Amino acid sequence: MPAPLTRRMTLNDLRAARQSGERVAMLTCYDFTTAQLMQKAGVPTLLVGDSASSVILGHESTLSVGLDFMIELTAAVRRGAPLAWMVGDMPFGSYQGSIGQGVNNVCRMVKLSGCDGVKLEVAEGHLKLVRRLTDAGVAIVAHLGLRPQAVGLLGGYRFQGRTADEAMRIVTLAQRMEKAGAAALLLEAVPAVVAKAVVERTTLPVIGCGAGRYCHGHVVVTPDLLGWTERKPRFVPDLGNPNRPVDEMYGEYVRRVSERQYPADEHDYEMPPAEQADFAARLKG
Ligand code: KIV
Repeated sequence: MPAPLTRRMTLNDLRAARQSGERVAMLTCYDFTTAQLMQKAGVPTLLVGDSASSVILGHESTLSVGLDFMIELTAAVRRGAPLAWMVGDMPFGSYQGSIGQGVNNVCRMVKLSGCDGVKLEVAEGHLKLVRRLTDAGVAIVAHLGLRPQAVGLLGGYRFQGRTADEAMRIVTLAQRMEKAGAAALLLEAVPAVVAKAVVERTTLPVIGCGAGRYCHGHVVVTPDLLGWTERKPRFVPDLGNPNRPVDEMYGEYVRRVSERQYPADEHDYEMPPAEQADFAARLKG
């Protein structure tokens, strides 16, 4: 089993993993006690995700959670896991109004929660905001692919990058986010070939959430991992009996990520073969 964390993890550990080929495990976390257990189980990076809206508050989507609540949760996780590299998540409506609103709210998140990085679900229109925040010294994790905050526009929680067009848009946006200064990328629910193209065409650490084996880090929603949610996404690893001691399960997840046993083929989303051939041809061109 992985050892408890003994030193503070930083963004440089993710950058180093990108270079060395080591895989970094990330879990979502929403409270002090679980954060303590995760630090003890050696989980190196944590995301206080807006999935809290569903898994903590019971809402249907992530759209309902507010910024103050997210800040409270993030600060609690910081107290429980002072050594983990911890990412705070900006909820729907907290950064879409204007650049000024986004900068103020992200700075509030950083100051009040003690997070190390901040995640934003991004589209083209957020490039300037990412630049401003990077200039201010904030490590931005740009979340692309399936963006749950855009569920209305996407028409549901379907994996993204199904066609060569969609896949190219994701790759191009990832490159633009890197140019705008993003510190890391998070790719949710995309085929492994799309994640591979992003990994090869950017120099940032890429964290996958249902994005296949090529990503440098992997995150899953912890209640899914523990088998506590009703519907588990296909990419969540099966760690066995949910009654098994939870710290053992966290440790097992870290071990599988670092030994590259997770993710495996059965966790991948698949682009239709014709689209994949078209995507490969366009990447070459
Ligand atoms: O909010 C969250 O938990 C997330 C992960 C699913 C990546 O954004």
